[in-house]
Amino acid sequence: MSYPYQVKSLEEYKAAYAKSEADPGAFWAEIASHFSWRKKWDTALEWNFTEPKVEWFKGGRLNITENCIDRHLEKNGNTPALIWESNDPDEAHRSLTYRQLYEKVCQFSHVLRNNGVKKGDRVCIYMGMIPELAIAVLACARVGAIHSVVFGGFSAQSIADRIQDAQATVVVTCDGAFRGAKDIPLKGMIDDALVTCPSVKRVIVCTRTRTPVSMIKGRDTWWEDEIRKVETQGLTDFPAEEMDSEDPLFILYTSGSTGKPKGVVHTHGGFMIFTAYTFVNMFQYKPGEIHFCTADIGWITGHSYIVYGPLGAGATSLMFEGVPTWPDAGRFWQIVDKYKVNILYTAPTAIRSLMGYGTQYLEGYQLDSLRVLGTVGEPINEEAWHWYHKNVGKEKCPVVDTWWQTETGGTMISNLAGITPAVPSFATLPMPGIHPVLIDEKGEEVKGNGVSGNLCIKYPWPAILRTTYGDHERCRTNYFATYSNLYFTGDGALRDENGMYRITGRVDDVLNVSGHRIGTAEVENAINMHTGVVESAVVGFPHDIKGQGIYAFVIYSGGHSNDEQLTRQDILQTVSRVIGPIAKPDKIQFVKGLPKTRSGKIMRRILRKIAEGETAQLGDTTTLLDPGVVEEIVVGKV
Ligand code: WT7
Repeated sequence: MSYPYQVKSLEEYKAAYAKSEADPGAFWAEIASHFSWRKKWDTALEWNFTEPKVEWFKGGRLNITENCIDRHLEKNGNTPALIWESNDPDEAHRSLTYRQLYEKVCQFSHVLRNNGVKKGDRVCIYMGMIPELAIAVLACARVGAIHSVVFGGFSAQSIADRIQDAQATVVVTCDGAFRGAKDIPLKGMIDDALVTCPSVKRVIVCTRTRTPVSMIKGRDTWWEDEIRKVETQGLTDFPAEEMDSEDPLFILYTSGSTGKPKGVVHTHGGFMIFTAYTFVNMFQYKPGEIHFCTADIGWITGHSYIVYGPLGAGATSLMFEGVPTWPDAGRFWQIVDKYKVNILYTAPTAIRSLMGYGTQYLEGYQLDSLRVLGTVGEPINEEAWHWYHKNVGKEKCPVVDTWWQTETGGTMISNLAGITPAVPSFATLPMPGIHPVLIDEKGEEVKGNGVSGNLCIKYPWPAILRTTYGDHERCRTNYFATYSNLYFTGDGALRDENGMYRITGRVDDVLNVSGHRIGTAEVENAINMHTGVVESAVVGFPHDIKGQGIYAFVIYSGGHSNDEQLTRQDILQTVSRVIGPIAKPDKIQFVKGLPKTRSGKIMRRILRKIAEGETAQLGDTTTLLDPGVVEEIVVGKV
């Protein structure tokens, strides 16, 4: 069995692509016709990239959860929708069929309603990777609320910024979260955040770690108590709120080149179509297969390919609470064998880290259920690609290298498993409906093959971001103003002789650390909050496992102690407090001055070269205000 919108051969890929190029609206409308709508749309696509304004399936009425859950009940009610594997290998797994997921989501939708959540309200979700996280996300969508999931590794300050920006009224969290050997105090973090968040009226706390937590009368309530109330009230089914195709589904904050994260907004109709379509096609999913995406739902990958995409296709999605290296570096392989996983989708950084532990951790595992392997989040180096293909896929499984972004909602450039060719370190060909163009320094399109440039996209696709929450102008300047009539990705790419795309990395001041996006300006702001810091400049440098590491050059005025090591630790603590542990610099170098132009601009190009260890070719330093500082920095490199 296959899906009506599944591309099954290279010829079909070419045909779909040609069709999408001729008329993007008609192409996606045909795909959308295979989903359930309460009312069909009036127009498939209306758009301009100048405002920008993009509207898909305008006038169409639906609720994404009816497509992800209700639609499957009749035929596949007993198919597992979600399988959950605990952080602790000895704890029993949990499995929810589509029927059971329906019941849980309806119940929690009632809980949200009972707690005053209405259509359009913003709900912040800060939880560990337990089934209740997926349930909370889906329940928000079902009642028409806009979810904003915040990754459990962000600090109280970062949560507060996100809650304030979205003016969230309800927070859903856990007492704590297990991650490897760690126990993360989520509720404590929320309590700290809420000191500055008067918009929040209610906090719903799900029990996981049994860490002692404070519960404030009138504001905080237990998830389990709320469910009990709903049961006593005899509330079961929850009719999904009817949404417009263009109503916002969620906000997800992501870093840019300024200090403040942006709230990327996605909508019901477009996100539903694009995630299900790309899920089925890139992995060539077959009904009944087990799909294991190792991401956290706190990132876009989890939204698109743990929750909405797989469920939209009626698939079985495996959710894992833990980390790849705990209790040992064989954890993924043990899970693959335990559930007979067919599709494994993970990040290059995880592959490189496991590669570092050695192949002995793969011994004893069969891994023969695997059919497709996928990677996402950052460029994959050839060595890691081959290691994955050989040791995990036993040279039988196609590896799909999927390039996309929080803003694109789903995969844009990727090979289709076993259908279009795979090339190590290349994302290869665009998905049908995606029209990439490369732009040179002069702002002109570079045509033909064997060329490189800044990667842009020509037409809208259904899951393109619609706005940045509360600040549409920021969306315009960030993505649509660099080149007229194009969406600018912020990535550089090359197109080889065969028309295959290879993503070469960010061309803006954004770092990709272990597949997580971090803005250099954000890290600098955090470092500068430390009392003794006068100024700082942050750049990336190549890191064997993380892909990119964070290198900070810091001008320090001195403090009560002359202990450099302790000061470094203090700065790391400051960054942890302000952003979260994921943004901690790997290297801190104290400097007397930073290389600046006469107009006061920091010359990052030079700092980047130094951090990369390329001190011999620093290029032209004559325009610097004080060329002497460069020498000093080179000498003091850490
Ligand atoms: C940035 C987007 C896509 C979900 C996870 C990250 C980089 C992503 C690839 C890939 C090379 C990649 C890009 C992109 N990136 N996938 N397959 N090959 N680079 O989402 O946090 O929005 O980051 O990740 O630089 O712009 P994100």
